[in-house]
Amino acid sequence: MMLTTERLILREFVPEDWPAVLAYQRHPLYQQYYEEVERTPERAREFVRMLLEQQWEAPRRKFQLAITLKSSGQLVGNCGVRLESAAAREADIGYELDPRCWGRGYATEAARAMLAFGFSELELHRVWAWCIAENARSARVLERIGMRQEGRLRDKEYLRGRWWDTLLYAILDHEWAA
Ligand SMILES: CC(C)(COP(=O)(O)OP(=O)(O)OC[C@H]1O[C@@H](n2cnc3c(N)ncnc32)[C@H](O)[C@@H]1OP(=O)(O)O)[C@@H](O)C(=O)NCCC(=O)NCCS
Repeated sequence: MMLTTERLILREFVPEDWPAVLAYQRHPLYQQYYEEVERTPERAREFVRMLLEQQWEAPRRKFQLAITLKSSGQLVGNCGVRLESAAAREADIGYELDPRCWGRGYATEAARAMLAFGFSELELHRVWAWCIAENARSARVLERIGMRQEGRLRDKEYLRGRWWDTLLYAILDHEWAA
């Protein structure tokens, strides 16, 4: 599977992608709203292996693609939709970008393409997402792609020694079409 946008190619992960993944997941800005874990080559390999296993699942439920730059082929992140079951009409969407590439609209561009895929190819009815409330960059991506905030879940996640509120967002097929 592959999705093409103005500046990006979203393609399937391959085993050789792990060093590029490690390079961005090691960046302190990337880790800000994730659990504190040591970012090792083995962990990056495991992450890529998990995405490869998703490709092989039949019928497939998780479509998490590498975000690469059209101009250079450089891997700068990932973006995907994930269904609970192959027949589900609901999925969640997620994305992450190399902090060296923030502020250029790549996440928004990738997430838009992924939403289009979800609604048109997978015939989803609802796509949802959540983010740590302080993760303003992520919330802005969700708002830019037309998702609506449905709630704030208080003290939903415990990480980095404290509780964090999370924001729940969603968009429905007819809202996307409009
Ligand atoms: C969440 C994350 C992907 C957002 O990255 P980002 O660079 O802010 O998002 P985009 O790539 O969509 O870029 C949008 C920014 O680029 C700017 N921009 C520049 N050129 C642009 C263009 N052509 N199109 C759209 N936006 C553009 C926008 O103004 C916006 O900046 P602003 O939010 O300050 O107004 C990134 O912070 C990240 O990877 N974080 C770590 C992982 C993470 O938290 N993932 C989400 C878990 S819920």
